[in-house]
Amino acid sequence: MIAPLKDSSIVMTTTLTVTTSTTQYPVIVGAGVLATLGDRLTELGLRGTLWLVADEHLAAVAEQTTTMLQAAGYRVHTITVPSGETSKSFTELHRLYDWMIENGIERRDAVLALGGGVIGDLAGFAAATILRGVALVQLPSTLLAMVDAAVGGKTGINHPLGKNLIGAFHQPRLVLADTNLLATLPPRELRAGWAEVIKHGVIRDASLFTALEDLAATRGWNAAHPAGWNAADAELTTYLTEIIARAVAVKVAVVSNDEFERGERITLNYGHTIGHAIEQLLGYRLLHGECVAIGMDAAARIAVALGLCPPALVERQRALLAAYGLTVTIPDETDHTAILRLITRDKKVQAGKVRWVLPTTIGQVVVRSDVPIEVIEQVLSSSAG
Ligand SMILES: NC(=O)c1ccc[n+]([C@@H]2O[C@H](COP(=O)([O-])OP(=O)(O)OC[C@H]3O[C@@H](n4cnc5c(N)ncnc54)[C@H](O)[C@@H]3O)[C@@H](O)[C@H]2O)c1
Repeated sequence: MIAPLKDSSIVMTTTLTVTTSTTQYPVIVGAGVLATLGDRLTELGLRGTLWLVADEHLAAVAEQTTTMLQAAGYRVHTITVPSGETSKSFTELHRLYDWMIENGIERRDAVLALGGGVIGDLAGFAAATILRGVALVQLPSTLLAMVDAAVGGKTGINHPLGKNLIGAFHQPRLVLADTNLLATLPPRELRAGWAEVIKHGVIRDASLFTALEDLAATRGWNAAHPAGWNAADAELTTYLTEIIARAVAVKVAVVSNDEFERGERITLNYGHTIGHAIEQLLGYRLLHGECVAIGMDAAARIAVALGLCPPALVERQRALLAAYGLTVTIPDETDHTAILRLITRDKKVQAGKVRWVLPTTIGQVVVRSDVPIEVIEQVLSSSAG
C-alpha cells in the first residue's frame, strides 16, 4: 500500500520519463505543477512562440496560463476549441491551421494542448503536421487524458466513417499533469477516468490495484466519488495524486517499451475490444471509460472461461469498479450480434484475428487470438446482473 503523506501541505510532484528509441521526455504529475510551465519550457530550450489550444471549458485556466507565460517572456497565441468529440474533425483542424498560418507559426514554435483527450489528439495532430511538425506540450485536464491520452504520442482526428482513423505518432516534448485541474471535472468524467486507472492496475501493477482497493475500503473514497474531486480534502488529494502518478507510470513504461504498438502496447487495449463496440452501438451515449469498465468485466469472464484465471479475479475487479462508481452490466438494448460484428471490424484486428487482452492474475495479462466465438457469445449473453 502507498503510505499516506505525513504533511499533506507538501505538494507531491512525480517526474517520470518516457524513453523510446527515438526520443525522451518528462511526464510530470502533481497538484499545482501548471504554475511551473514557463520554467520547464525554458529548461527544454523551447523559446519560440507558444500556440495554446484550450478546451472551451478551460478558458479561464487558458487565460491565466497565457498571462503567466507572457510574464515569463513568451509570445503566446491562444485559441479555444468547442468541447466534445465532434471537435476531432477536419473542420476544427482546418481552423487551427488557419489560425497558425495567418499568425505566422514557425518551426521553432510549440503547440500547447490544454484539455482532455479530444484537445490532446486534435492539437497534437495539428502540431504533428503543421510545417511538417513542431514541438508539442500536453497539458491534460481530465483523468483519462492524464493517465492515458496525453502520454505516448498518438494524435489524430475522426473521419466521418470512423473514430481516430486519421492520425500520426508525434511524441510531446513534455507532459504536465496538474491534478488541481480535476477539481472542475464533472464527476461522471472523473469516474470514467478511474476505469482507465483500474485497467492500468490489472494489466501491469498489482500494487496500484491494491492501493485503489485500500483507498476504497479505508478512506471513504467510495462515499466521496459522486461529488467528484474533493479539492477541500488536501490529504486525500495528495494521496489520489500519488495513485494517479502510479497509473501514469504504467502508461510511461508500456510506451517506452513499445512506441509504435508492435507488441506490449496492445495490452492498454484491455477492456476495449467489447468496450469500443458497445460505445459505438449506443451512439456514444456512454462515456469511453464506462464502456471500458463493461469490456474489462467481459474480458475477465472470457479469461475465466478459457481457464486463464480464477472466477475470484472477476469478483475482485467488479468490486473495485463498483467502488469507483462504475457498472459492468451490458446495457439491455445492446444487440449481441452487432457487438460481434463490430469486434471483428476493430482497428486492432490483425490478419482477420481479434487480439484479446486477457488477465491471468491482477497485474498481468496475455494476448490471445484464439478465443472461440462460442465463448464470446456465452459471455455476452451472461452479462452481470
Ligand atoms: N491519444 C491517445 O493515446 C488516446 C488514448 C485514449 C483516449 N484518447 C481520446 O481521448 C478522447 C477522450 O478524452 P477525454 O475523456 O479526456 O474527453 P474530453 O476531452 O472530451 O473531455 C471530457 C469533457 O470534460 C471537459 N473537461 C475537460 N477538462 C476539464 C476540466 N478540468 N474541468 C471541467 N471540464 C473539463 C471537456 O470539455 C469535455 O466536455 C477521445 O477522443 C479518445 O479517442 C486518445
